[in-house]
Amino acid sequence: MKTNNLLLDEKNKHVPQGVFSTHPIFAERAKGAIITDVEGKEYIDFAGGIGVVNVGHCDEEVLKAIQDQIQKYIHTCFQVVMYEPYVELAKRLNEITPGSFSKKTMFVNSGAEAVENAVKIARHTTGRPAIIAFEDAFHGRTLLTMSLTSKMKPYKFGFGPYAPEIYRMPYAYCYRCDFGLEYPSCEIRCAYFLREFFHTHISSEQVAALIVEPVLGEGGFVIPPREYFKILHKICQEHGIVFIADEIQTGFGRTGRMFAIEHYKVEPDIIVVGKSIAGGIPLSGITGRTELMDHPQAGGLGGTFCGNPIACCAALAVLDLFEKKDLISRAGQIGKKVLERFEELKEKYSIVGDVRGLGAMVGIELVIDRKTKEPATLFTKRLIELCRKKGLLMISAGTYSNIIRPLMPLIITDEQLDQGLNVIEEAISEIDN
Ligand SMILES: Cc1ncc(COP(=O)(O)O)c(C=O)c1O
Repeated sequence: MKTNNLLLDEKNKHVPQGVFSTHPIFAERAKGAIITDVEGKEYIDFAGGIGVVNVGHCDEEVLKAIQDQIQKYIHTCFQVVMYEPYVELAKRLNEITPGSFSKKTMFVNSGAEAVENAVKIARHTTGRPAIIAFEDAFHGRTLLTMSLTSKMKPYKFGFGPYAPEIYRMPYAYCYRCDFGLEYPSCEIRCAYFLREFFHTHISSEQVAALIVEPVLGEGGFVIPPREYFKILHKICQEHGIVFIADEIQTGFGRTGRMFAIEHYKVEPDIIVVGKSIAGGIPLSGITGRTELMDHPQAGGLGGTFCGNPIACCAALAVLDLFEKKDLISRAGQIGKKVLERFEELKEKYSIVGDVRGLGAMVGIELVIDRKTKEPATLFTKRLIELCRKKGLLMISAGTYSNIIRPLMPLIITDEQLDQGLNVIEEAISEIDN
């Protein structure tokens, strides 16, 4: 029998260390919210392949959609011979994304590739070079998206020089406000700061787009105040700047709305989606105003594998599942329960510095001291390891890797959810002592 250790030795021999894994285990199979490793141990999955399996592992209807499509054709390249599922999926995304204006959608393979294309489209349309991104943002690992990403280690360190014309603003990280203010008396200074930014960092006439996550994912489940995006969006509109919402992690129901930006009542010019869109098959999309999406010349967008038909069929099945199983309401229920339990943890354990949530996107920020807010990075690492030993898979987030960010499948049962939350509490109490 293959063991995790044997496979890990092989992995270390044949795969570069840069391709890191949080957990030293290998999957044998996965179903619903459970992953079974090669040694037969079962884990409750609170990571969901980093927020990719909102509909659960190997959902029967997603499997059927994939199998049906495989029987017909696997690849023709949409740029050579087109196929209906691509067009059908584009139509559905144009319908369900916020914005009552005319929209078009194109598909690529990964989140990073979607962000790259959104930036290409914004630059092409505006004829301007600059992009504004945010502190603690994560947009991917390609040269441009790594440059848009904020965290140095491990994502950027040693990989420079970075792509030019990227300018970085503070995010609305209320727990660690860059301006030393408190909500609501701050009057959302961090959003209005964009106006100052045009004088101190980059002139508005040179800015093609502002790209922002409605809730920071990798940055630590940071949830801006309700007014924040409306202000940013309005300022962008005043200056002809394309507002791009990166919904790659927040999208597909995670926050109790199909797209997190809906909570903020903002209609972005472009939305990029990925991760959970196709139940685990690589696919990402860019949906935007028709006049933006149609601006680049024919042949300027796309790629060999972009919008693979199997992935498009899986995504159509995922959309059906959201309706059939009302996964958006389920995200709300999960979020309520997780938030309650995490608030209890905050009452009991001083290591829990902050608890914040939007739908099922609920995070705990762990700190060594509540006054100094020194990040409890080592504690978080130990917590994740101990949880795994107890049968729960989790991942951390945040510039200091001191935030727990559960990304469980939205089809998780109440029992599995309780079990997972119990494991977190048990592990915190053991390490805290
Ligand atoms: C908000 C956000 N944008 C972009 C990406 C990059 O996606 P991918 O890893 O599919 O390239 C991620 C991945 O974690 C993400 O969370």
